[in-house]
Amino acid sequence: MPELGPVKIGLLGLGTVGGGTVTVLRRNAGLIAARAGRRIEIALATAKDLNKPRNLDLTGIELVADAERVVDDPSIEIVAELIGGMEPARSLVLRAINNGKHVVTANKALIALHGNEIFAQAQARGVMVAFEAAVAGGIPVIKVMREALAGNDILSLAGIINGTCNFILSAMSEAGRDFNEVLADAQRLGYAEADPAFDIDGIDAAHKLTILAALAFGIPLQFENVYVEGIRAITRDDVLYAERLGYRIKHLGIARQVANGIELRVHPTLVPARQPIARVNGVMNAVLVRGDAAGPVLLSGAGAGAEATASSVIADLVDVVRALTSDPENRVPHLAFQPDTLEDLPILPIDDIETAYYLRLMVADQPGVLADVTRILSDRGISIEAIIQLEHAALEIVPIVILTHRIKERAMNDAMAAIEQLSAIEGKVARIRVETLA
Ligand code: HSE
Repeated sequence: MPELGPVKIGLLGLGTVGGGTVTVLRRNAGLIAARAGRRIEIALATAKDLNKPRNLDLTGIELVADAERVVDDPSIEIVAELIGGMEPARSLVLRAINNGKHVVTANKALIALHGNEIFAQAQARGVMVAFEAAVAGGIPVIKVMREALAGNDILSLAGIINGTCNFILSAMSEAGRDFNEVLADAQRLGYAEADPAFDIDGIDAAHKLTILAALAFGIPLQFENVYVEGIRAITRDDVLYAERLGYRIKHLGIARQVANGIELRVHPTLVPARQPIARVNGVMNAVLVRGDAAGPVLLSGAGAGAEATASSVIADLVDVVRALTSDPENRVPHLAFQPDTLEDLPILPIDDIETAYYLRLMVADQPGVLADVTRILSDRGISIEAIIQLEHAALEIVPIVILTHRIKERAMNDAMAAIEQLSAIEGKVARIRVETLA
């Protein structure tokens, strides 16, 4: 190994991921140096409370309160931004880039919302911005999409990319429990984001899908064009009915190339129980990528957690260290495609997507209702795959569950509105999209 001095890192944030990064970098220091070609040393780290007791070996790390000191320090070559959120993370990352430093970040919201600006600035300054830890924690999905599948036309991807949603849906299925009870557990166990709405309303998954879709299709980052639905409306009964029909309900981020553009959507989805991704439970994440040459590639693993996420942060540090002396023109492009080849392909409005559907209607148990419902569907060209009336002892209003074949969402919205007008229908029709992922 050449006798170069250590590469000095400035760490912004000593929380869960920052702490995990310190621990793993120390534990595996020899292995990491042998792989990177130089030792990687955290020289400076910021923390909100400098005196907080920490179960970390901080020997040789100077703790500072002022993050600007870290991004301005001439001895720091790489800044690891692990504070999350929008500000001051965005300003600090841009300032580090302006100062000619490389950046490693775990900040999915920052990349999804400001990545286009950040990468343009990094490109102009000739520095790298690496973000493996921003999507699916310890799963090396960015590396796979950007490098290992570089020979493929990526046709689609579908991912369980929010561990909190997966934990809640898995617990609703395994223990037959209600959404609110399980959410409280997820918060107690520390899985949910500081604002749990980010998880359960699908925002966190949409940030991650924005990043994966850009890498897959060579399109700019565009969080604002992702259709987003969370899991609040999913009932314990929907989970059980789906299982009776041979499906599991998963909260998926889906990006797909179709003839007239790209579908970008995050929503609860019925997935056939036989699909391996349907068996990824608890806080685990998984991403299924379909390439024209490789076929389906399924990556699964821990989507969060101190050391799992640190694994990705450190992989990025090693990548950056290995490429420090390379010509910026010959590095792996930030978004997989060379920036001047990015295409603004149209993103389909949700009304224009085509998928199959699970519908649950609460109906008065009287003659002719089912005939009315099926007529509304057939008038709009919607073909039924299965229909079941579920027993509900001593109830006058009973659930009917319908699985349809694929149809445009616009036709389904129209059919649902017509069904809700029937006097025998109680309340709204519950609708969940169905994907075979085949
Ligand atoms: N809150 C996120 C999740 C953590 O539940 O997956 C990692 O982004």
